[in-house]
Amino acid sequence: MDCDREELRALSAAVLAVTSHLSVREVLQTIVTSARRLLGAGYAALGVPDAGGSFAEFVVDGVSDAQWRAIGPLPRQHGLLGVLMRDPRPVRLEDIRRHPQFEGWPPAHPDMVDFVGVPIIDGTEILGALFLANKRSPGGFTADDEDLLRLLAGHAAIALVNARLFERNRELSIVEERSRIAHELHDAVTQKLFSLRLTAEAARTLLSRDPVRADAELANVRRLAAEAVDEVRAIVVGLRPVDLAGDGLDVALRKQIELLDRVHGATVRFDAAPIPRMGAGCEEALYRIAQEALHNALRHGAPSSVDIRLEARNGRVVLEVADDGLGFDPEGAAPTGQLGIASMRERAVAVGGNLTVASRPGEGTTVRVEVPTDG
Ligand SMILES: Nc1ncnc2c1ncn2[C@@H]1O[C@H](COP(=O)(O)OP(=O)(O)OP(=O)(O)O)[C@@H](O)[C@H]1O
Ligand SMILES: [Mg+2]
Repeated sequence: MDCDREELRALSAAVLAVTSHLSVREVLQTIVTSARRLLGAGYAALGVPDAGGSFAEFVVDGVSDAQWRAIGPLPRQHGLLGVLMRDPRPVRLEDIRRHPQFEGWPPAHPDMVDFVGVPIIDGTEILGALFLANKRSPGGFTADDEDLLRLLAGHAAIALVNARLFERNRELSIVEERSRIAHELHDAVTQKLFSLRLTAEAARTLLSRDPVRADAELANVRRLAAEAVDEVRAIVVGLRPVDLAGDGLDVALRKQIELLDRVHGATVRFDAAPIPRMGAGCEEALYRIAQEALHNALRHGAPSSVDIRLEARNGRVVLEVADDGLGFDPEGAAPTGQLGIASMRERAVAVGGNLTVASRPGEGTTVRVEVPTDG
């Protein structure tokens, strides 16, 4: 096949387009334009079918905008176009109008005679087709033309597959982000609201007996509500937990524990030995795990006491939340929609630690997590 400079330029434009940062549509347009120029055709088009019998993409070259508008809606996948979308064999015709599947043109459509069309293929899947009509030089499209067109269709396939992968990645990161937000909301906000509810209840029971203490608890209600708002804001912009941002892990935990001890019927105790400084990720993981384990104990266990222990041992920090409540079977299948235990485990693993839940009906529950201090 002879290649003059003009042809090389057109071919190279099509190849470069694929590796550029153009949109898929722009890449396909470059390929169609290059194809028409390279093969000296009057018209060129590329169609990517959709599931509804029409086209997700349909780009043309050689048709003016006015002409394109006059033709009207996008073609459907029937007639010869339908054949091209279903059958991977190239089609080369001296006169398209004599093809058995030819169904005529819509009113403003230019008349076409000689035709060549090749599939755009990924493996065995037909992604679309690239086709040309009305070769300018006499004699119609040749086998060489068909080869060249196939090469360009190969580039169109790469562009389309890339675009699909890109879209899939984007969807995946949306799913990941949604799951992060769900976990954060569960771990931070529902806990805060739980404390808020308990505090409001405490204030209500104190109202007639001890208005001064009731007033103090109401101030706590207000503070917890404000903190819940801050938590939501922190989650949305991906900041660390509000409580940890100011105080260290043990101070933040102590505050939580003292509040719950006061407003909940159970005795909640904190036994904290000095622990070394840890990375922010580790502190956050331990804080969230402690919160969830503590709230699980109070919500599900009906315990008379909950003991939270924090200590350092052999380069690892150990946190234990033990209640003397109802207990449960940790091996039992977790109903869908419960995030707590799964989230605790994920957080522990994410900082190189591990988490165990020891429980048996009637024997209380102990959640224990160990993380390396350099995690
Ligand atoms: N300390 C506990 N005492 C008794 N039962 C518990 C305790 N911790 C967990 N459970 C049981 O395990 C189940 C699963 O806990 P998990 O934290 O995963 O979900 P949840 O607390 O029900 O809901 P979520 O945490 O998503 O708000 C609980 O519904 C409860 O039946
Ligand atoms: Mg829970």
